[in-house]
Amino acid sequence: MTTLRSAQWYAGSDRHAYLHRAWMRRGAPNSAFEGRPQVAIANTASDLTPCNAHLDEVATAVKQGVWEAGGVPLNLPVVSLGETQVRPTAMLWRNMAAMAIEEMLRANPIDGVVLLGGCDKTIPALLMAAASVDLPAVVVPGGPMLTGTFRGVPLGCGTDVWKLSEEVRAGTLSAEQFLDSESSMIRSRGHCNTMGTASTMGLVTEALGMTFPGTAGLPAPDSRLLRQAHDTGRLAVELIAADRRPSSVLTAGSFRNAIVALAAIGGSTNAVVHLLAIAGRLGVPLTLDDFDRIGSGVPLLVDLQPAGRFLMEDMYRAGGLHAVLREVEDLLDKTAITVTGRPLVEHLGEARIWDREVIRTRAEPLLDDAGIAVLRGNLAPAGAIIKPAAASPHLLRHRGKAVVFDSVEDFHARIDDPELDVDADSVLVLRGCGPKGYPGMPEVSNMPLPQKLLRAGVRDMVRVCDGRMSGTAYGTVVLHVAPEAADGGPLGKVRTGDPIVLDVAARRIDVDVPQEELDAREPSVAMTEAVAKPRRGWEQLYVRTVLGADTGADCDFLLGSSGDQVARESH
Ligand code: FES
Ligand code: MG
Repeated sequence: MTTLRSAQWYAGSDRHAYLHRAWMRRGAPNSAFEGRPQVAIANTASDLTPCNAHLDEVATAVKQGVWEAGGVPLNLPVVSLGETQVRPTAMLWRNMAAMAIEEMLRANPIDGVVLLGGCDKTIPALLMAAASVDLPAVVVPGGPMLTGTFRGVPLGCGTDVWKLSEEVRAGTLSAEQFLDSESSMIRSRGHCNTMGTASTMGLVTEALGMTFPGTAGLPAPDSRLLRQAHDTGRLAVELIAADRRPSSVLTAGSFRNAIVALAAIGGSTNAVVHLLAIAGRLGVPLTLDDFDRIGSGVPLLVDLQPAGRFLMEDMYRAGGLHAVLREVEDLLDKTAITVTGRPLVEHLGEARIWDREVIRTRAEPLLDDAGIAVLRGNLAPAGAIIKPAAASPHLLRHRGKAVVFDSVEDFHARIDDPELDVDADSVLVLRGCGPKGYPGMPEVSNMPLPQKLLRAGVRDMVRVCDGRMSGTAYGTVVLHVAPEAADGGPLGKVRTGDPIVLDVAARRIDVDVPQEELDAREPSVAMTEAVAKPRRGWEQLYVRTVLGADTGADCDFLLGSSGDQVARESH
């Protein structure tokens, strides 16, 4: 048996080993320091991340599995991000969380780690960290909430907030009725139950091969999640014995599987920036275009909100991720292994679809081509994305006059102005909302429509923005425009009245202004004045070092891996 990493701390009879062992004893058996694998449980449980608040119970189940398999489990609370609570956007802190988690995994006497996440940014941050320290690692996704209902109708987290609030603005729902729904939406522990970013990242993590098979998508209150957590604890000890590390699981083939899964489940556009960032930590050459190349032609099989009707509890009941992946098995990489050491496809064996309304067969998909489309053009030379599954078919090819907003404040101040020169064919443009500009690339791209148009029955318009959109949102929204306006992108030069041309089939997004004229224009002064100029601290470091959305919006100094070695002793 190879020597454990933790033996660098615990083995021997010198003063260093004494110090490391003595402070950790506190009731631990002697054997804990005699060659047993030390398994950290990187735990994002936090009362301020309500979607992850139940993870302490999951950690307890993981611990039992680790002890049972002969390891020593160690709870390690790590930076946690509550999507709905943190301002200005949880995305601003994703890279910081990843950095802090990476450093704590490396600095501590551990041999491997179980990663507990759920809410949107927590699994991406954990995976980025695990990739950069490359210790044996496995994820337990915390799972979605149970379905809440209001007046007999299911409520989808996030999606129905956007829907109902637009109904209030349209005058078809009273403010009282809207507030009545609030306490019905969050029925149980767990993360958002729509196919938002949290559900997407949990499922995509399993497709990447980073979970104990069959765990992703299990509702948070389902007792089977605790059984899976227990088995994951056992598996963590096996991973260490086999020296199976993220770099051997997260290969180009496993990213292919993740992209196929992302398309088939109709997953969140946010998965694009997260997967690019994880790949960037591993040196896997994943590009924005791979999402279009691999994802286009993959059918949409899962009828979940926001693109469809059902919720995560329904998806699990209908057969879960494995049933979906089995339908598209021919598109998967057959060699990409999971944390079990066996290929993903070998774990799909018995999966079946139990409800063909929720999970469609390959023969009867919801859409033939569900992949996220990558657009380019003089408005987005480095790329932009759109999710056709969440868009209106009649707007996928569109020409309309730009109505430009220089900041989110400018947008809110003017959007409901009855005098605003806007009609259903207009294209709403919001800029200064990229990683550097806001800062943190918030989920503001799915701009609410002008009230006067809502009242006239308009429910979708083409929107263009350098920010992100909530995975629970919908609409014909061109997102992640790169380079961002605050970083010299041409989006900063568009003027109200310029014709914008969207052609998703041709993968184009352009402003129909002669190129020489566009080049000669200066970026908008109002936008330049409105963008963030942080003076110190993380925000300053972030704005100085963050890369574009087209490569995953990681910080330049965090790309790659440093491995698990620590050169020097502490005393
Ligand atoms: Fe946490 Fe949606 S707010 S997953
Ligand atoms: Mg979100």
